[in-house]
Amino acid sequence: MLPRRGRSPAGSGWRRNWEAALSRRALITGITGQDGSYLAEHLIACGYEVWGLVRGQQNPRVRQLRQLLGDVRLIRGDLLDQGSLISAVEQVQPDEVYNLAAISYVPMSWQQAELTGEVTGLGVLRVLEAIRVCSGISASRSPGRGQIRFYQASSSEMFGMVRESPQNEQTPFHPRSPYGVAKTYGHFLTQNYRESYGMFAVSGILFNHESPRRGAEFVTRKISLGVARIKLGYEKQLRLGNLSARRDWGYAADYVRAMRLMLAGEEPADYVIGTGVTHTVGELLELAFKVAGLDWREHVVTDAAFIRPAEVDKLCADPSLARERLGWESKVGFEELVAMMVEADLALLSSGGHAEDSFGDSW
Ligand code: NAP
Ligand code: GDD
Repeated sequence: MLPRRGRSPAGSGWRRNWEAALSRRALITGITGQDGSYLAEHLIACGYEVWGLVRGQQNPRVRQLRQLLGDVRLIRGDLLDQGSLISAVEQVQPDEVYNLAAISYVPMSWQQAELTGEVTGLGVLRVLEAIRVCSGISASRSPGRGQIRFYQASSSEMFGMVRESPQNEQTPFHPRSPYGVAKTYGHFLTQNYRESYGMFAVSGILFNHESPRRGAEFVTRKISLGVARIKLGYEKQLRLGNLSARRDWGYAADYVRAMRLMLAGEEPADYVIGTGVTHTVGELLELAFKVAGLDWREHVVTDAAFIRPAEVDKLCADPSLARERLGWESKVGFEELVAMMVEADLALLSSGGHAEDSFGDSW
């Protein structure tokens, strides 16, 4: 069981909050991903000491991460390896663990369903077990057991074939991909560890959130990069799948604020995080091409290769609980987000950069 580190004495008002944050230590899995980078920046700005779990021998994103965030400390580990997670928690002694690591690209979850189950699903169990073992929690429920607070990156993909719209914390799940099924397992397991062991374990049910650091395989970034390549004359066409799918797209840097707020609450609870506004892929296309002064109809080709075995047609968040209890709101709207992404990719490619050597703006 971990010996606890000292805390600064309690002050008052904002000073107490700042001092409390100053003494906090966070461990982030998935730190080399889009959300990991924004969360690390946010926590550092709030005065946290931030550690990131990184996997692999020669992970190229580690170098980029070090360039962006020199203040982050890195520790090796893999969601497939229970021992490495126990060692990481033992060594870091975090106050908060944010589990963002996953295989997160939905189509890949049909191609590698077992691996997706192992990482995105069972990986959650391994992180929770590492916290439980290191906190010395061995038996049944006792509220507030253990001092490490846990955040699980749940997903609106769990709603899948939606039973109602918009979706809130009570909406039943009907996942439509092995990824959605794995996330649903992780979500219920987090709830179960809260109920079984009294752990402060919560899930954020986050709707799609994007940025110039988004992976190039996701539709927003595929479009912003495609527009930039066409505008600069490198390509003529952009091939896409289902243009009528509807999503609730927000800005990633807004969403990581909600993660911290969830762990700062008095009581552990799960929250839906999204904007409540939806657009189709077609509308996204039209706007992105317009930002670059182009007409999408002259360049976009639909390609059956990008149609999924089972589609999630429409997702729309009802984030009212997060607004009421956490005071959270998204700040960047759809138009601003799309313009930000297209402009960032135009600047990146114009300066000779490539999608793979950038997580976007400041990387
Ligand atoms: P992302 O960019 O795809 O990042 C995924 C991260 O997981 C990467 O850092 C990756 O590290 C890490 N990872 C993968 N397999 C691992 C393993 N076996 N062990 C340790 N780390 C591993 O994802 P994101 O967009 O930042 O999303 C963060 C989390 O939120 C994910 O769990 C995602 O499913 C969930 N989520 C995202 C959204 C969204 O719209 N972005 C919405 C809802 C939920 P490597 O560099 O080593 O590959
Ligand atoms: N990726 C991609 N590529 N998607 C396309 C394409 C294409 O060429 N053409 C149409 N789409 C449609 C997909 O069929 C889907 O309906 C929609 O665009 C969004 O696809 P993605 O950007 O790949 O995101 P996602 O909604 O499947 O999943 C993302 O959001 C989830 C939260 O709802 C990921 O970030 C997940 O990890 C996350 O949980």
